[in-house]
Amino acid sequence: MSSLHVTRTLPEDATDAALRADVRDGLTVTPKTLPPKWFYDARGSELFDKITELPEYYPTRAEREILLARAAEIAAASRARTLVELGSGSSEKTRFLLDALTDLHTYVPVDVSESALVQAGQALVEERPDIDVHALIADFTARLTLPDTPGPRLVAFLGGTIGNLLPAERAEFLASVRGLLSPGDALLLGTDLVKDEEVLVRAYDDAAGVTAEFNKNVLAVVNRELGADFDPDAFEHVALWDAGNEWIEMRLRSRTAQTVKIPAVDLAVEFAAGEELRTEVSAKFRKEGISAELAAAGLTLTDWWTDPQNRFALSLSTVREH
Ligand code: AVJ
Repeated sequence: MSSLHVTRTLPEDATDAALRADVRDGLTVTPKTLPPKWFYDARGSELFDKITELPEYYPTRAEREILLARAAEIAAASRARTLVELGSGSSEKTRFLLDALTDLHTYVPVDVSESALVQAGQALVEERPDIDVHALIADFTARLTLPDTPGPRLVAFLGGTIGNLLPAERAEFLASVRGLLSPGDALLLGTDLVKDEEVLVRAYDDAAGVTAEFNKNVLAVVNRELGADFDPDAFEHVALWDAGNEWIEMRLRSRTAQTVKIPAVDLAVEFAAGEELRTEVSAKFRKEGISAELAAAGLTLTDWWTDPQNRFALSLSTVREH
């Protein structure tokens, strides 16, 4: 008989304190920035799900294609008895892995959203009475303590979400993942790949305007949580390709000169007409670059799988022997 166990490592009020700090730090400097993690309240998560179904947004479908084609190879290479999934969300694509990992004992989904974890965890326990689910309510960029479960472990970080981290944050993140692994364990990493600028920009500026709504949702989050008076219509959605950094940036451009009040942090934030607030970086990768970043963290890239159109990659890395 399987069981569902939930562990909270985030204090109940951590989210509120972190949002205040990010708003204070990001809106009192030039250029203004907010971290992309604040997109994902219930409405933002719903909008992201809609994004994954847009014709222009290929990463989710490309990654699913790779997982479906390669799940058996991933399972054979990792022989995992514990699967840890960072930023698991609804755990939807994970089904392919769970079904392929024949020796799996425990699934450890890690997410900041307790509701997503409990929902996905309950469904899974019913579907797969042969595996234990030990859900962790935690921020995957913070230091994690994993439950004591049988190895080998496979840590999966899918969706290309690593691209939301800036290079220095990525180095720190990969080093902390390396710290979770013992010899014989592995990291399965999803990375979106550098490609034609037009294809990339369209994926972040779709014709139906869903991504624009998703981008503006961060303003609704700040309004609700911190009592701010952002008018989403006073901002324009911007998606651009930074060729030097090889990343997509999403921004919100103020249509006019305006002042926004944010009472909970006692701020009045001035925007000049045309001033932009950066809300997301979504880095795109090449095999050589990510392989070097993994190596710098003490990990060796051992497998590299792409979809037939070379849009997205899944890589498997192991702890470097020395
Ligand atoms: C969920 C972080 C992988 O960067 O492509 C989708 C989020 N932003 N459209 C991405 C996102 C705009 C997405 N990740």
